[in-house]
Amino acid sequence: MKYFEKIFENNKEWVRQKLSLTPDYFEKLAQGQHPEYLYIGCSDSRVTAEDLMGVQPGEVFIHRNIANLVVSTDNNLNAVVQYAVEHLKVKHIIVCGHYECGGIKAAMNPSDMGQLNSWLQTLRDVYRLHREELDALTETQQRFDRLVELNVLEQCLNIIKIDHVQRSWYKTQFPTINGWVFDVRTGKLVDLGLDMEKEFQSIRSIYDLKPLDKK
Ligand code: CO
Repeated sequence: MKYFEKIFENNKEWVRQKLSLTPDYFEKLAQGQHPEYLYIGCSDSRVTAEDLMGVQPGEVFIHRNIANLVVSTDNNLNAVVQYAVEHLKVKHIIVCGHYECGGIKAAMNPSDMGQLNSWLQTLRDVYRLHREELDALTETQQRFDRLVELNVLEQCLNIIKIDHVQRSWYKTQFPTINGWVFDVRTGKLVDLGLDMEKEFQSIRSIYDLKPLDKK
């Protein structure tokens, strides 16, 4: 218990603060969640989703893994996306990478990482897809930063490839898909400004699950 004393103290203080502002805060919280956002980010302890976005409990549905990957065979990710899109009906999906990401760094240095190899392979595939652009960058730091950004783009594309997302899109034009990067060096959140409709058009002939002739 002594390891966690501080944490439980913090929690008591947090409850006290919430109740002092809103006496029925937890009664309302217990009634249900209606988040507008699904956030998919890195597990990195420095990238605290709610804190850096300044949002409150109930506002964001969250999934985190190493290097914010969207892997089609990942049951965990698929369940999160399906629940968020079909049941919570989130309006926006955000894939948020971050500079100085350890997962990205590991993927840039080919070596045997044991259990992590298959996870890192997805990142190495992103490198291979964008090899020309990345190899043209002379500085390692530039390549590192750019791979963080390109990984966000590729994971946004992977979101588009998911059937539940496409079904919802065809029905409601939602959710929007957004690629962001958190800059741990400045604390700033950067919107990569990805035009996901344009991106989808460019891969549609391969990944569209409801081709035009079947609508
Ligand atoms: Co990371």
